[in-house]
Amino acid sequence: MNAKISLNKDYVIGKIEPGIYGSFIEHLGRAVYGGIYEPNHPTADDMGFRRDVIELVRALDVPIVRYPGGNFVSGYNWEDGTGPRALRPRRRDLAWQTIETNEIGTDEFQEWAKRAGTEVMMAVNLGTRGPDEARNFIEYCNLDSGTYYSDMRVKNGFREPFKFKKWCLGNEMDGPWQICSKTADEYGRIAYETAKLMRMIDPDIELIACGSSGSGMNTFGTWEATMLKHCYNEVDYVSLHTYYANYEKDTKNFLARTMDMDHFIKSVVATCDYAKAVARGKKTINLSFDEWNVWYHSNEPDDTRPKIERWDIAPGQLEDVYTFEDALVAGAMLITLLRHADRVKIACLAQLVNVIAPIMTRTGGSAWAQTIFYPYMHASKYGRGTALLTKVECDRYDSRDFTDVPYIDSAAVYNEEKEELTVFALNRSLDDHAVTTIDLRSFEGYDLCEHITLTHDDVYAANTEANPWQVTPKSNGETKVSSGVAHSILPKLSWNVIRFKKI
Ligand code: AHR
Repeated sequence: MNAKISLNKDYVIGKIEPGIYGSFIEHLGRAVYGGIYEPNHPTADDMGFRRDVIELVRALDVPIVRYPGGNFVSGYNWEDGTGPRALRPRRRDLAWQTIETNEIGTDEFQEWAKRAGTEVMMAVNLGTRGPDEARNFIEYCNLDSGTYYSDMRVKNGFREPFKFKKWCLGNEMDGPWQICSKTADEYGRIAYETAKLMRMIDPDIELIACGSSGSGMNTFGTWEATMLKHCYNEVDYVSLHTYYANYEKDTKNFLARTMDMDHFIKSVVATCDYAKAVARGKKTINLSFDEWNVWYHSNEPDDTRPKIERWDIAPGQLEDVYTFEDALVAGAMLITLLRHADRVKIACLAQLVNVIAPIMTRTGGSAWAQTIFYPYMHASKYGRGTALLTKVECDRYDSRDFTDVPYIDSAAVYNEEKEELTVFALNRSLDDHAVTTIDLRSFEGYDLCEHITLTHDDVYAANTEANPWQVTPKSNGETKVSSGVAHSILPKLSWNVIRFKKI
């Protein structure tokens, strides 16, 4: 198969905000306890955080982490995770049916974030709670001192305010599973009032309103339009969530699922712009794709792991073991996000540790990188700068749910400061490599720096504690540059990172 990728330095989609490479840690399963925090682990630091996990998070260069949920946040009392630990209550977490000990809360998590070199994207509870608690919480986190809650933080040992910039106004409030879910009108009103109060405390924050929990929701579209009618002028982003599955074991169809993601993004952009017209809005609302990933292995009927008991502490929930084909889908999702970098300004791979995550740990044991770790790491490391328009000419196929799926999917990122161009490319073909040309004429003097590939003969190959290096990238891709054109071979079923640099 032949393919042609055309791009030009001057044809720009938009600046890539670092927040597009964010992630997510929820008080769920072993994400916090046994994940980032395990005081008895041999690598634990002075606060009980696992150093081996921090090292892996740092390798991913994660710019921002959403916290503390997720479904969890809709029943969470932020005060429980602050102040003297001995006084913190144990509570039933109704969202995941576990016991939350509150050993870790905002006080500790903001310190973990510093150690992991990341920022916190905080969420407020708009399920069981509302504007009053949200205003108190932001006062606790972001005000210097001299008021009740800011002084409480100082008394708890934190002289400097945490200064969280980005705040989520609840989570998936349209979903019937959500604790105290709402209609679009109810949510729009509470989001408006909460945002108003939070901004009175700290006018410098950015606020994310809940969009639909997924494009499959019955209310998708009308939810966004209705809730924005109430809060358009008070919020900055609308959230999107999506998880893909391959229960049918149909790789061709699975790899095409990003066609749906693309459509989802375009629909939310259109709805935000419609709401702008209705609100006579001056600003443009951007998108926060703050939950995206593959998620289904831990839900498969033949999953043989013991079932979780209710009201346990930090049981192993949602521990998907990712395969090679999942890594390809994760790569395709990253390409899709990059192609919408003009409007998607935040995105969070859900989640970061143990729970549907690129990083896995064994409690008391090692930490390792799952297959999806690699495309995420490549995009985060090499995908900083400006997203360029790419035109891909290649063969297409039809699958069970999609038609006209391009075999080759690609996004290009230009880093002017570093004088680097990176082309991310996915070959969806199960049978053929793609002999591909990339037009580099607008990049005079650029030559190949490295062509990284992620390939495997077995789509179900996975990285486990016993065999953590089954699926790993190699710097062995075939690319040659001559007369302003790069000639690349994209192996069948492969993720490619082709890096060029000015010489
Ligand atoms: O990421 C796991 C869960 O998926 C989150 O708690 C929720 O927001 C979504 O449904």
